[in-house]
Amino acid sequence: NNDYDTKIDYVFKVVLIGDSAVGKSQLLSRFARNEFTIDSKATIGVEFQTKTLILDHKVVKAQIWDTAGQERYRAVTSAYYRGAVGAILVYDMTKRQTFEHIANWLEELRGRADKNIMIMLIGNKSDLGSLRAVPIEDAQEFADKENLCFMETSALEATNVEAVFLTVLKEIY
Ligand code: GTP
Ligand code: MG
Repeated sequence: NNDYDTKIDYVFKVVLIGDSAVGKSQLLSRFARNEFTIDSKATIGVEFQTKTLILDHKVVKAQIWDTAGQERYRAVTSAYYRGAVGAILVYDMTKRQTFEHIANWLEELRGRADKNIMIMLIGNKSDLGSLRAVPIEDAQEFADKENLCFMETSALEATNVEAVFLTVLKEIY
């Protein structure tokens, strides 16, 4: 991956946000390293990972930032959002509350991030279909109303994870 470092055409910063335990860090580790950890620990502060990929014959370096969903571990200031061109807003499709909170995350995002930021709504843990607490229609309706792209993913099964990041990066690009 680092072979491309010398000829990077673009660096895009993308931020992950959403409640604790919705799977933000596992989505990132699935995308960046194709790894998944069942007993993932809550994030403290801010972390980021990069992945370099080719889009339309250009070398694009995605720099994906991840922070704690838990208020007490969040070191989020405007610095987290500064320079971000994409945002991935994540809820857990088996926990209704995490979806209800999306409106708050969106409000914070719109208050702090660049107004042209590309925002994607993600319902994660689609592998737990029998525990679904958020109908696709509800999420799609919210996404349409707020003008967001929407997808369901499973970091565990690697479903749609690449598609989400590629959608964000292509929209930005
Ligand atoms: P904070 O860092 O506290 O904000 O949480 P987070 O959103 O980063 O959650 P994390 O990625 O650490 O995942 C929380 C738990 O959900 C872990 O036990 C993961 O293994 C599990 N998890 C994450 N993604 C999936 C998924 O797609 N399916 C299932 N079944 N479990 C998942
Ligand atoms: Mg985390």
